[in-house]
Amino acid sequence: MHIDLKELVAKYNTPLYLYDFNAITDRYISLKEAFEGKKSLISYAIKANSNLAVIRHLANEGAGADCVSIGEVNRALEAGIKPYKIIFSGVGKKDDEIREALQKGILMINLESQAEMKRVELMAKELDLVARISIRVNPNIDPQTHPYISTGLHENKFGVDIDVAKGMYIYAKKSQYLTPIGIHFHIGSQLTQLEPIKESAIIVADLVRSLKAIKIDIKFFDVGGGIGVVYDNEITITPEEYASVLFEATKGLDITLVCEPGRYMLANAGIFVTKVLYEKSNDGKRFVIVDGAMNDLIRPSLYNAYHKIEAFVEPSDEEMVPADVVGPICESGDFFGKDVPLPLLEHNDLIIVHSAGAYGFTMSSNYNTRGRSAEVAIFDGKDYLIRQRESFEDQIRLEVACDTSWQEKK
Ligand code: LLP
Repeated sequence: MHIDLKELVAKYNTPLYLYDFNAITDRYISLKEAFEGKKSLISYAIKANSNLAVIRHLANEGAGADCVSIGEVNRALEAGIKPYKIIFSGVGKKDDEIREALQKGILMINLESQAEMKRVELMAKELDLVARISIRVNPNIDPQTHPYISTGLHENKFGVDIDVAKGMYIYAKKSQYLTPIGIHFHIGSQLTQLEPIKESAIIVADLVRSLKAIKIDIKFFDVGGGIGVVYDNEITITPEEYASVLFEATKGLDITLVCEPGRYMLANAGIFVTKVLYEKSNDGKRFVIVDGAMNDLIRPSLYNAYHKIEAFVEPSDEEMVPADVVGPICESGDFFGKDVPLPLLEHNDLIIVHSAGAYGFTMSSNYNTRGRSAEVAIFDGKDYLIRQRESFEDQIRLEVACDTSWQEKK
């Protein structure tokens, strides 16, 4: 990103999320090109960054959307993604969400249990339409990632095992209100190893073949998201390697490959910018206190995730001294980085937290009654505000809208 950070901060203040929209385009194209020669759909996982401008940008490139709530489905539609490119996943869909998704004519609903299949069938019957479904298979493969973002083992809550899935397909095929068109798996996020994806794809492709043999024709092979990115110095999967194991696993099948990348598209297209408030030292331990906090970017606190941190100051020969970079929230877990080598900093110096484009803003909250950050897009060298900074009034709006007469003092 070629930007004048100081100017942007003067204009938008901090804490601030900045996204490089040209980098998002590059990521999308690199994946699309890797799948060239095969039918494919890149359904962007909206949960990674659901700003409408981000989704609209990807919609313009031709992306579909992977959604996990009706809110996300509506965001996708609002941003211009065509219903036939939208997938609705998630272990716990409510009746009204299922109903609305069916009415909106999305591509398919990913089912995660037999009980859910029965609800979808019932909703479709009530609406007198046929639900296009896909089933999430849990291949019981260890994805070799952080346990909180691992999803493809039987001990995780996601999907159903192969045998159960087969029975569900047979049931769905017979149902007047269900039509099975897809198969889905997603074994975890931030995957840096190819082998678990390959193994899972082989298991799932075998199921597709055995379904074809009984005249259940699966058209969409949805491999979920999960491509790992570089936060530090990880060696991760390239789009070409990813595509090639999927091609290999699905050899001979006339099928559309669907992938649901979130992190890959956004993580390294975004930074989080925060301002230094104070420096302090507690018994020799150095702390840099900044104006951003865990409510803005919770990944370090929640997963002990590493984000590269840099001070945006003139280079100098000054010695770098390790410091914990912490926010103003009343929790010891409120930190962005520990023992980060940093020069001596002054009030209002800027700190950049890298790789913050995915699961940054979307996981932010109002904890400690802190307004959420502003978000800004940089596209072709120009900056555009894509979400205003949240004000105190924005935060209390739904509370002041309630009747408070019952609390009035007599
Ligand atoms: N598809 C499904 C069904 C998913 O559950 C997910 C992510 C994705 C696609 C997108 O995965 P990605 O390409 O981004 O790895 N908050 C965590 C990540 C949670 C991921 C949940 N599911 C983090 O900050 O690392």
